[in-house]
Amino acid sequence: MLFLSIALTAAVATATPLQRRAPSGVPSFVIDYAPVVHLFSGEQYKPADIGAQLANTKPEVNAATIANAPNPLTLDNLNALNGLGGANVYLTSTSDVTTNPGWLKGVTPDASGKTGGANSSVIVVNDHGNGNVDAFYFYFYAFDFGGIYFGVNVGNHVGDWEHTMVRFVNGKPSQMWYSQHSNGEAFSYGAVQKYKGGKRPVVYSANGTHANYAIPGTHDHTIPNVNLPLGPLEDHTDAGALWDPALAAYYYSFNAASQTFTPYDSSTPTNYLYFNGHWGDAQYPTNDKRQRCVLGISQLCKYTGGPTGPLDKQLNRTSVCPDNGNECIVRPILTPK
Ligand SMILES: *[C@@H]1O[C@H](CO)[C@@H](O)[C@H](O)[C@H]1NC(C)=O
Ligand SMILES: *[C@@H]1O[C@H](CO)[C@@H](O)[C@H](O)[C@H]1NC(C)=O
Ligand SMILES: *[C@@H]1O[C@H](CO)[C@@H](O)[C@H](O)[C@H]1NC(C)=O
Repeated sequence: MLFLSIALTAAVATATPLQRRAPSGVPSFVIDYAPVVHLFSGEQYKPADIGAQLANTKPEVNAATIANAPNPLTLDNLNALNGLGGANVYLTSTSDVTTNPGWLKGVTPDASGKTGGANSSVIVVNDHGNGNVDAFYFYFYAFDFGGIYFGVNVGNHVGDWEHTMVRFVNGKPSQMWYSQHSNGEAFSYGAVQKYKGGKRPVVYSANGTHANYAIPGTHDHTIPNVNLPLGPLEDHTDAGALWDPALAAYYYSFNAASQTFTPYDSSTPTNYLYFNGHWGDAQYPTNDKRQRCVLGISQLCKYTGGPTGPLDKQLNRTSVCPDNGNECIVRPILTPK
């Protein structure tokens, strides 16, 4: 007995926390190469529980509450809103966000990197069937603080879905995508930093915006499709608190032909992934006293609209980049941006 208990203890001690958390059926490489994220050291809006977003919001269309929505809304019934306004639905904060309610701030990862009590990540595996497997690691935050544009705070919104994606070829990581604002950057897997010199890519989440970068520092970003009269807008990243998203994630496989998600564990909620509305408030109109827009430019308003969810992030890609018309440059070395 004594020998057996020592052997068991040893087995438990050597198992990584990740292996204990992931449901069976998830390809081991999706776990072994799951990215780890450094939040910015001064980050105010940390990863948040996906379900808590529903508890702290009410669904609206054209600023009117949807009367016959399921109550309560849950991760299992959120897709019922597709028949009640769909893409025009905004999950709208029940408290005035200008008062900075606590739920917007999310959860600080614990010493192991886990967002305790908060499922803040969604991991989606798309097996293309030709040896290519794409693993999407989605990161959820309850609020996005947009940034400071010449002393003025612009681009805040409730709800923030970001992601990185690792493309595996015959079980080996080959390339990686980092989402940043409406596009992002791709690198070869060999180029990116690895956590503690191991297998897991390192991601730096920018202060407030949560754009994902491969290196720490200051990153200039322009707003796509807006010819700014002034510049620049900067993102800031550093090696702040470590977040291991895979420790509190929901795991799914994705079928591109049917556009369906299948959870690896039958107790995992799924229907919320089909909701085609927005995970935060609609952009406040200019006559709302909370709103203020630089030079009347919609993208430079203090508050913009909440984002759509993972299904809208091109889960069946030809290359590691989204098929969005931009050139897909897979950088072989880490370059500043
Ligand atoms: C980080 O974001 C907060 C708001 O969440 C802001 O007050 C602060 O100035 C930002 N820090 C840097 C270095 O940009
Ligand atoms: C997080 O997910 C786990 C596993 O699916 C579940 O047991 C737990 O209740 C979830 N937590 C919350 C806050 O929803
Ligand atoms: C999914 O993407 C692959 C390219 O990797 C493509 O060959 C296939 O037709 C796509 N499937 C669907 C249903 O669009």
